[in-house]
Amino acid sequence: MTYARIAGTGSALPERVISNAELAAKVDTSDEWIAERTGIRQRHIAAEGQTTGDLAFAAATAALQAAGVDASEIDLIVVGTTTPDLVFPSTACLVQHRLGANGCAAFDVNAACSGFIYALTVANQFIRAGTAKTALVIGAETLSRFLDWSDRATCVLFGDGAGAVVLKAADEPGILSSHIHADGGYKELLWNPVGISAGFKDEPNHGLRVIMQGRDVFKVAVKTLDRVVEETLEANNLDRHQLDWLIPHQANLRIIEATAKRLDMPMDRVIVTVDKHANTSAASVPLALDYAVRSGKVQRGQLLLLEAFGGGFTWGSALLRY
Ligand code: COA
Repeated sequence: MTYARIAGTGSALPERVISNAELAAKVDTSDEWIAERTGIRQRHIAAEGQTTGDLAFAAATAALQAAGVDASEIDLIVVGTTTPDLVFPSTACLVQHRLGANGCAAFDVNAACSGFIYALTVANQFIRAGTAKTALVIGAETLSRFLDWSDRATCVLFGDGAGAVVLKAADEPGILSSHIHADGGYKELLWNPVGISAGFKDEPNHGLRVIMQGRDVFKVAVKTLDRVVEETLEANNLDRHQLDWLIPHQANLRIIEATAKRLDMPMDRVIVTVDKHANTSAASVPLALDYAVRSGKVQRGQLLLLEAFGGGFTWGSALLRY
């Protein structure tokens, strides 16, 4: 049996940090409100001209270095993103060329905040099927580009960044299972109402913005994540106490705490970066994973549960032995 194993991780964040206090000077909000409701203290925001592809390339370079893998060895690049540099070519193609990995398969996956779990799932299937031996999986976003910076209900929640992993075929797990789902019936609870085919609007930023029913999203997210972590434990015949780390999507500390409670995990075994990164959508899980690895928290051989939830709705999880 062939499994996909994480050989290295990497991440990248824009230099510019915007604190809650700085936002409070622009919209009617406060550090207290944001921190209490979400756990967010600051976010990184891309510089003018700095793209999703730039961040993805930096994260990928770090992951390849950590894995000791040369770009020429890559068979597949999958990028989870909702904010690609261009309509086409895909961000994966742009990153591939910059890495010098020309010739391998490369494409983007759009599953909003679940983008990395979706991309990881796709790459895992390629490796399990024997179609690829080495895959680069990236979650990268510049959500700041389509935020409405005058809307306090949404602009305080998001940030920019990228995270990446190199997967290699191995005889031992690796990724034990992953589970991805979607329900398009929830489209209008969390969405961006314009696009290439639907058209743009004669509004600031062409109508690009996040429209969100925050309270409803919160409720569905908690319930749905409960279900997907149960599904993952059941599929692996695993007791929740056997998990070493929960590496959740970083949207809201209260959502993270609810999942941890469900798993009976103390918060010191949960990776939290939402305070520093805010919600970086598809980049959030690989950013948290890279932080966990580089800070020495996550050790080789430990059992990790990754999960995410996002617009669509989409959601998913991955159980892996690091
Ligand atoms: N600063 C200050 N006040 C704000 C605010 C802000 N940034 N944003 C909203 N408010 C106000 C609202 O206008 C409302 O005022 P009112 O009571 O006078 O009407 C009040 O705060 C409460 O708003 P509500 O939306 O009920 O707050 P909440 O406790 O549900 O917290 C969220 C709002 C967005 C933090 C929370 O619902 C949430 O995190 N939802 C999930 C969002 C998410 O994770 N999205 C991404 C999924 S991938």
